[in-house]
Amino acid sequence: MSNDTMKNSPGPVLLSDALDTFETLWSPRIVARVNEYDVRLTKVRGEHVWHVHEDTDEFFQVLDGALDIHLREADGERTVALDRGAVFVVPRGTWHKPHSAEGASLLLFEPSGTSTVGDRHDEVPGHVDATTGHELGS
Ligand code: NI
Repeated sequence: MSNDTMKNSPGPVLLSDALDTFETLWSPRIVARVNEYDVRLTKVRGEHVWHVHEDTDEFFQVLDGALDIHLREADGERTVALDRGAVFVVPRGTWHKPHSAEGASLLLFEPSGTSTVGDRHDEVPGHVDATTGHELGS
């Protein structure tokens, strides 16, 4: 392989160190990219906003704390309770609203360019960052 096609690999990222680089809630940082997907870290507390991703599933892993995700499904509303270590996937097309009373640190896995407030959403409150993710360290 010639030098022009070789790229330096990003270094390893310790998730605990990455979490120490930001405090802003509901404002994810991109810690890795896998093919066309982002691995994002986010800190949350309180309510997010009802929203839907029409074309993609959304993966949640609770690294610390606890998270509830309210879902609107065919049979009505339900809430899934995720403790530390739990993983959950919100299917595409499902309206959802994350909520954490005690606060949580989350790992998210979703296609690059996915907005935190989806393709459709209720009015976005001021404490929610409508973003496709920020670079780590920004
Ligand atoms: Ni979502």
